[in-house]
Amino acid sequence: MKKIINDFTKMTSIVRSATVNDLVALAPSVRDKVASEGFVLIRGMFDRLEIQQKLTSLYTYANTASHKPSAGVSPAEIRCNMTKWSIGGHSQSQAGLPRFMLTVYNPLWDEDTFKLHSDFSRLIEIRDTLAGRETLIDDRLAPARYNGCRVQIYPSGGGFMGAHVDSRAASNLEGTAHCAYIQMVLLLTERGKDYQSGGAFVISDDKTIDSEAESLAGDLLVYDGSTHHGVADIDSNIAFDISNLRGRAVALVTVLTKDDILHKVKPGKTTGTTA
Ligand SMILES: [Fe+2]
Repeated sequence: MKKIINDFTKMTSIVRSATVNDLVALAPSVRDKVASEGFVLIRGMFDRLEIQQKLTSLYTYANTASHKPSAGVSPAEIRCNMTKWSIGGHSQSQAGLPRFMLTVYNPLWDEDTFKLHSDFSRLIEIRDTLAGRETLIDDRLAPARYNGCRVQIYPSGGGFMGAHVDSRAASNLEGTAHCAYIQMVLLLTERGKDYQSGGAFVISDDKTIDSEAESLAGDLLVYDGSTHHGVADIDSNIAFDISNLRGRAVALVTVLTKDDILHKVKPGKTTGTTA
């Protein structure tokens, strides 16, 4: 990163919308804004209170599950409800993109443990509306691809992800009609309430921009395949406590292949699938 993270330039770009139909008309301008500014924040598509209430069962699960390690996990193992660490910057899927986070996998074909499935389905619909294509439910994707529905928890005490572009995930859409890559990040938490410092950033025109400034739970952060983005250290002045995982949490629906372990990158390349 070219700038210190506490040197954020505030430049939140909020689009207000309430229905998917609203987004049909807004989609071209949203895509243009993401292309020129690196991101857009959309408010009104999800209920803030409902999202906050769903965090309780999510954190209960995250604090009681037995977590798989960062490396040595097969692609098949992440296609069910489970948790996996992503810690480091040199091993397996971490190689080339340093990070510290816990992923809670919650695919649509497994139990709806956190009542988030309807939100994942809405995210998929919004993503594809913004991309200008039909909704790519799993049955409409190529046989080896699926919507990777999950939550990423960046824990207080240093959770982060290095700067990268989502080139790997974008390549999973090759061969799809209207294959524009849109990354949807549904914010489940709020800075100032669930954590105090750090969060999503975008690097644009040599400036590091706080892409979550003034955001609320239920807001959508929208990136595309060119957005240079990451997650700045969450509450780095607090000691990490593995028995009390909390911090910044986001829901994502990236199209994956069944050979993917998330965030697989080529060593030395700042490319990945999400933040
Ligand atoms: Fe990313």
